[in-house]
Amino acid sequence: MNFVDTHCHLNDEKFSEDLLEVLERAKISGVNRIINFGDTLKSSAAVVELATKFEELYAGVGIHPEEISGFNENSAEKIIELAKNKKVVAIGEIGLDYYWEKDSEKRLQQQKIFIEQLEIARQVNLPVCIHEREAHGDALKILKTEGKNLRGVMHCYSGSLEMAKELWKMGWLIGVDGPLTFKNSAKLPEIVKAAPREMILIETDAPYLAPVPNRGKRNEPSFVIDVAKKIAEIRGETLETVAQYTTKNAENLYNIGVK
Ligand code: NI
Repeated sequence: MNFVDTHCHLNDEKFSEDLLEVLERAKISGVNRIINFGDTLKSSAAVVELATKFEELYAGVGIHPEEISGFNENSAEKIIELAKNKKVVAIGEIGLDYYWEKDSEKRLQQQKIFIEQLEIARQVNLPVCIHEREAHGDALKILKTEGKNLRGVMHCYSGSLEMAKELWKMGWLIGVDGPLTFKNSAKLPEIVKAAPREMILIETDAPYLAPVPNRGKRNEPSFVIDVAKKIAEIRGETLETVAQYTTKNAENLYNIGVK
C-alpha cells in the first residue's frame, strides 16, 4: 500500500536530531511521498532545500497568515522565485487565522495577502494549500471571488458540512489529519463520511496534531496511516481502498507522478 503525507513540516527543529530515521519509518510504512510546507520565506526556502536532498520530499511555499508582518512586493517575488524549483508543487500554507488574530485591521491585512498569494498561485500555475481557522465565511467568500481557475485543498479541515459541500462543488478538497481520531472530533467524522472519494486528502501536519494512539506526542509522516485507518472505519471501506484513492487524489492535485 502507498500513502502520501500531503502536509507536514519536517524542517521543524523537532526533527533536527532524527530526520533520517523519521524518513526511514515513513518509507517502511508505505508513506513514500511527503509534502512539506513553509510558513515564512525562511521556512519556504528550507523546505525547498530539503526537497532537493530527498527524492520522496516535495515542497509548498508561501506565507502563513500568522506570519504576514513584513510581507511586501519583494516577498511575492521571492515566493515566485522559489516556486520555479521543480520539487515545489504548491503555494501554501496561506490563508486566514482568526483564532489567533482578533484585530480587525490585521484580519483585513490577512485577507489582502491571502488574495495576493492566490494570485501568485495563478501566475505560477500551482495548486493552493489553505490554512483557515475560525474564518470560514471570509475564506469561502474569497475563494468564490478570487479563487476562480485555482485548485487546492482546505488543509486540516475544521469547517461545517455545509461549507465542505460548497467547497466540493467548487472543486476544492479537504485535508484530514489527526483530530479525526480524537474523542472530541465533533462534526469531522460526519463530514468525512459524506465526502466524495475524490475530495479527501490525508495529512499529518507533523510535528503537530499526532493521531491516536500517539496523541500528544510528536507527529511524523508514518502516522498518516492512523488517519487513513480511521477514515476506513468511518466510511466502511478497507484501508487499501482508502490508500488507493487518497494517493490518487494527492497525485492528481499536486502532480507528483505515479508510484
Ligand atoms: Ni501546517
